[in-house]
Amino acid sequence: MNNKTLSMRFSSLMVATFLAFFAVPFAQPAHAAMCEIIEDETGYYEVCDDEDGYSEYVETEEGWSEYVEDADGNVIVDEQGTWDDVVLEDERDFFADDEDFFDDEEFFGDEEIDPNDDGYFDDNADSAPEQNYTDSDLADNKLGKTPATPGAQPWMVAQVAAGDSNAYTGQECGGSLIAAQWVLTAAHCVENMSPSDINMVVGRHTLSSNEGERIGVAQIINHPGYAASGGNDHDIALIKLARPATAGTPIGLVTAATTHLDNPGVVGKVTGWGQMGENDERYPDGLHQVTVPLISQDKCKTQNGADAITPGMICAGLDAGGQDSCKGDSGGPLTVSNDSGTGQVLAGVVSWGIGCGAPNSPGVYTRVSEYTNWIQQNMK
Ligand code: ARG
Repeated sequence: MNNKTLSMRFSSLMVATFLAFFAVPFAQPAHAAMCEIIEDETGYYEVCDDEDGYSEYVETEEGWSEYVEDADGNVIVDEQGTWDDVVLEDERDFFADDEDFFDDEEFFGDEEIDPNDDGYFDDNADSAPEQNYTDSDLADNKLGKTPATPGAQPWMVAQVAAGDSNAYTGQECGGSLIAAQWVLTAAHCVENMSPSDINMVVGRHTLSSNEGERIGVAQIINHPGYAASGGNDHDIALIKLARPATAGTPIGLVTAATTHLDNPGVVGKVTGWGQMGENDERYPDGLHQVTVPLISQDKCKTQNGADAITPGMICAGLDAGGQDSCKGDSGGPLTVSNDSGTGQVLAGVVSWGIGCGAPNSPGVYTRVSEYTNWIQQNMK
């Protein structure tokens, strides 16, 4: 266990410090037959002067040392090491690791989040995109995304990995509050997930902030047709919250009577924390929005493929591209104004696209009006 290089590293300082504080007892050994044990805030000391000779065993925060008296009566270091050398043999080592753990835990305190750190111990393995983007940094995005007005979409929900207390790094999908205890999202957002895997954040604009509330999930109800389709059809799911949300305001669903959906050119609005472009993996901390013109089913079939587009989908985008949702926006709302123009209703759920924002490649949304019966029947 004796490690000579380590001795060199800290013996002189330690011995000097040690002797400065304990010169008196060592210079005048008690010549007792037994060892004397001293424990104080500086460490643990065992001073022995018996038939085996004079020795001291010392443990401090940094490590351990053994001292002996040489032939001239000087107390010299015999062996020493740091706690780092002692692997799994000493529980102090365990506590040293524990402290590191608690340091990282502090990161999770919602107050002081380093948005560039996902909280994993190995920061080099951090795959979370760098953030700290101001809204103006992101203004150059190619999807027509602009910062949303805080509070103007009170139904907006973020799906966050339950294991990540930083909602910015943990954000997985969007969602819409459609009743106090119900969120509507995309089936692909919750595929193969159990309620304990995710939390829903309601009433928050800036993900890394503490605004609003974070609520557990009681139940996930996937549309049975989604898995059965083996593709993107019926990409819709209901999430029952563990308790009713108080921070948000639910949005009403589009009804069959919402006539303007059939008028291509009507502009819908998508909100989310998704990435800024197909190859632009900047994720915003603050909620963004993009306006997207709805297009006819025929046109969407021409552009995205006749077989790909089902009655359960509605498409939106420009021929020229440049206005679209993208990865990370999934599950979130596509809203249109209600017939009387007095507010927004939920017309779509961000579902899929061929890339993001490319020309002649509209974004595809789950057509909520096709699922109002399924939604009503399952919300209980
Ligand atoms: N599937 C993506 C997600 O999980 C959403 C893609 C939307 N794509 C688009 N071009 N509108 O976040």
